Parts: sequence; structure tokens; C-alpha cells
Amino acid sequence: MKKIVVIGAGYVGLVTAVCFASAGHNVVVVERNESRVVALQLGQVPFYEPGLDSLLRLALGSGNIYFTSDISEALSTEPEVVFCCVGTPSQKDGAVDMTDVWAVVVEVARNARGRMLFVQKSTVPVGTCKKTEELFASIFKTCAYAFDFDVASNPEFLREGCAINDFMKPDRVVFGVKSEWAKKVLIELYEPFVQNKETQLFAMNYESSELTKYVSNTMLASRISFMNQIALLADVVGADISAVEKGVGSDTRIGKHFLRAGIGYGGSCFKKDIQGLMHLGRVHGVDMSFAECVEEINENQVSAFLSRIYAYYDSMLSSRRCGVLGVAFKPETDDIRSSPAVALMNALVDKVQSMIVYDPVALPSLKLSYPQLRVDFANSVKEVLKSCDFLIICTEWAAFVGLTPSDLLLVSDKVVFDGRNIFDPHEMAAAGIMYYPVGRKSVAPRKIAAIVNDRQLEH
Ligand code: NAD
Ligand code: UGA
Repeated sequence: MKKIVVIGAGYVGLVTAVCFASAGHNVVVVERNESRVVALQLGQVPFYEPGLDSLLRLALGSGNIYFTSDISEALSTEPEVVFCCVGTPSQKDGAVDMTDVWAVVVEVARNARGRMLFVQKSTVPVGTCKKTEELFASIFKTCAYAFDFDVASNPEFLREGCAINDFMKPDRVVFGVKSEWAKKVLIELYEPFVQNKETQLFAMNYESSELTKYVSNTMLASRISFMNQIALLADVVGADISAVEKGVGSDTRIGKHFLRAGIGYGGSCFKKDIQGLMHLGRVHGVDMSFAECVEEINENQVSAFLSRIYAYYDSMLSSRRCGVLGVAFKPETDDIRSSPAVALMNALVDKVQSMIVYDPVALPSLKLSYPQLRVDFANSVKEVLKSCDFLIICTEWAAFVGLTPSDLLLVSDKVVFDGRNIFDPHEMAAAGIMYYPVGRKSVAPRKIAAIVNDRQLEH
């Protein structure tokens, strides 16, 4: 069993630390946010990630994990492996903000003892491992302690919402290494998590490993953007994007994943990593226009969705109460970073009479990040359905997928705009619901004025 230090207790760092601790390793986690350290030491996970809290408590119980904000304390244990898992956000020009990464590298170099493998797990531009090596070497020359280091790239591919499963049963693990020792250490660490080390553990050079991460995220996002663009065409020509998705995705060469059209991708990484790839292209004078298109299509997705709402309600929008189901960028997380739902709410909130919103776990994140947003917070799905004139679905939480036509009939205008294509348009039409999915045949649009007329006639 190895002594491991993990720096950064966010989504990636905490999952990495807890999973290695569960495998029996001795893990010390360094997190600069002291209140987070206190909470974690008590077994409290600061964000919603299914299964992580119980695994953390087991690891704490076994004594295999310990949290601190003091990097020198952590490194005084002379760990064999140090993982860097800090944030790498985008700067205004799309370049990656490496402030936290370089701060970690310097701190580690100043406090390291013995022989250590420094593993870069954060998503970082190509060239980072090489620069890290150079930086270590220059600090090493002036260092009072003896330490010997090796560097590796080991990008993380976990998804939020199923992070434990993704880490414990990865499709593949990628290492960028120079030495046989680094390769051996990483194989020893990851071998228990894969079924076949020959086909699932890939050692390559630093640059290939760093680039693999950016290409993976851009490739996944490109599939979504392509289908979102095709959905616009499907709308016009009368095709059903869900049927096209099945027809295309059943080709094993193409595969069925990441083809779902909707209001666009969100989350902390796709956008920033595509920007990172584009920036890398600019730095090296290589055209990255494909990546640019992927992002452009996504940027347009929420406004394309909103334009249907504007077209439907016209001048009556300002008298309608809008219900929103889903704030998180995807189900099973409370993460709202770059969530299309948030972009949609911000754009729509001043155009409607009022807005009521529900999400099973992400409402506290919304309140915290957007305290000024003029929305009512509901305690349940039903509360939204009962009190709104029209409904928008932004996240495909299971609780929303399970709604029946009779639940949706509670919506006063009986109008549903579905940004995640979770219902059957025929079932909706049969129930008398005006249902507007993305890229699927809708029931014939009826202007709100006609509905209001009907109501007046009824009375
Ligand atoms: P995060 O923002 O959730 O967590 C980063 C943590 O590092 C924070 O808690 C922060 O306080 C801490 N930190 C920063 N500097 C520190 C320092 N010097 N010492 C100690 N702690 C420090 O970020 P994340 O979502 O876990 O992402 C981390 C990296 O992994 C990013 O590069 C991201 O692109 C990549 N990644 C993220 C995901 C994901 O699903 N979130 C998946 C794969 C890869
Ligand atoms: C994504 C990648 O899937 C991970 O492999 C990667 O490690 C991670 O980014 C990262 O680098 O941070 P994540 O952002 O957690 O993971 O979520 P995804 O499941 O990839 O979904 C991203 C977005 O795409 C969501 O908004 C989701 O709703 C949307 N999506 C996904 C679609 O619109 N259609 C699809 O078919 C699939």
C-alpha cells in the first residue's frame, strides 16, 4: 500500500482520495479551504455526489484518509505519490488559468522529501508536465532538503453524478510518463480498478496524455453540438431527432452515447476545455475551427430554445408565470456551473410576469451564486406545476422523467417546453398538452390568445 497526498478536495481530488483510501492506501488530502477541511474530517461532503459521503465515512473509519490545509504537514509523511487536483478555469482570452497549479508545484517542490512521483490530474495545457519538470529541477538546486522527483500526467475522465463508478470502473486510464518507475507506480495504483491492464491502461508521453484529455472532452461535446444542429433541421423537415439518434447511434462504429439533443451542454469543463484547446491551437498557429463551431452551436442552443417560447407567447409573455424544472447542468449533481438552465432563467426572468423554479438538489447552489435572481423557489415539483402558466424542463432528473400527462395537466396553459426531450410527443398531444421538445415533431402550435379565448368562452 502506498502513501499518497492529494492536493485539492473538489470533485476530482475528493473522489480520487476517497477511492484510493477505499483501496487500502494511506491518503492525506490537502485543501486550502479550512472550513472544507473541518467538514470533510467530520465526514461531510461539501457538494452533492451520490455515494461519496458513505465512502468518505468508511475511509475515515478505517483511518486511511486524513484532511489538512497544511501542505508541509502532508508532505512530511514522505508520500510516494502526490496528485495535483486543483481547478484550471478559463481566462477571458480562453487561456487556462494555471495560478493554482503553479502554486501547488512550487509548494510541493519547497516541501517535498525523499522520492516522489508528482502526478498532474488537473486538466492542463499541453506542455505543463515538461514545465513542471523544469520548475522542480530549478527549485531542487536551491532546496535545503534532498528530494528526488518524477512527473506524470494522469488526466481524469470521471463525470459528476457517477464519479465513484467512473473512478472505480474506468473505461481506460491514461498516463503520460517518462520513466519506467513512474509507469510502474501508476500501474500498481490503477491495476485493481481495471479488468484488463493491457487494454485499459495506456502509457504514452506527457504531451499525448495532456492532449488526450482536451480531445476527449471536445469530441464528446462535438457529438452533442452536431446533434443539436441536426435537431434544428429535424424541426423544419419534420424528422424526429430521437429516432435519428437511435438510427445513427445503433451503428457500433458511431455508438449511442452523447447524441442526445437538448438545450445544450453545461458543466465546468466542456466549455473551458474547448476554449483551452482553441487557445493551444492559437499559440501554435494551428487552425482549431472545428472546436470553435462546437462551442458556437452550444452558445446558440439556449437562445434557439427561447425563441420558440417568444414565438409562442408573443406579447402575452409578460403576463405569464413560468415554471422551471431543473437548475443543475445535468441530473445527480448540485453543480450549476455553465448550466443552460441558469442561462435560460437569466434571459427569461425579466420577460415573464414571474418565475418559479424547482430542482431536487441544486436550489441552494442557485441561491448562493445568484442571490439577485428574481425567482420563487418551490419545495416540490407539484408546487411548480400547480402554480405556473407554462412549464420549461431544463434537466432530466428522474423525478421529472416520471411525470405523467395528468401531472402536466396541472400547468395552467397546458404548455410544456422540454429542453431535454423526456416525454413522448404523441402521449402529450393525446392528453391535450401543447408540448414543445427539441427537434421532435410538436403538436400543432396554438397561440396563447386562442387558449385565452377558449377560456373566456368557457365562462
Ligand atoms: P474544484 O474547483 O471542485 O476543486 C478544486 C479544489 O482545489 C478546491 O476545493 C480548491 O479550494 C482546492 N485548491 C486550489 N488550490 C489549492 C492549493 N494550493 N492547495 C490546496 N487546495 C487547493 O475543481 P474540480 O472540479 O475538482 O476540477 C479539478 C481539475 O480536474 C480541473 O482541472 C478540472 O478541469 C479537472 N476535471 C474535473 C472534472 C469534474 O467533473 N469536475 C472531471 C475531470 C477533470
Ligand atoms: C464531462 C465528461 O463526460 C467527463 O468524461 C469529463 O471527465 C468531465 O466532463 C470533465 O472533464 O469535467 P460532466 O461534465 O460531469 O463530464 O458531465 P457529462 O455527463 O459529460 O455532461 C455534460 C453536459 O452535456 C451536460 O450538460 C449534459 O446534459 C449534456 N449532454 C450529455 C447532452 O446534452 N447530451 C448528451 O447526449 C450527453
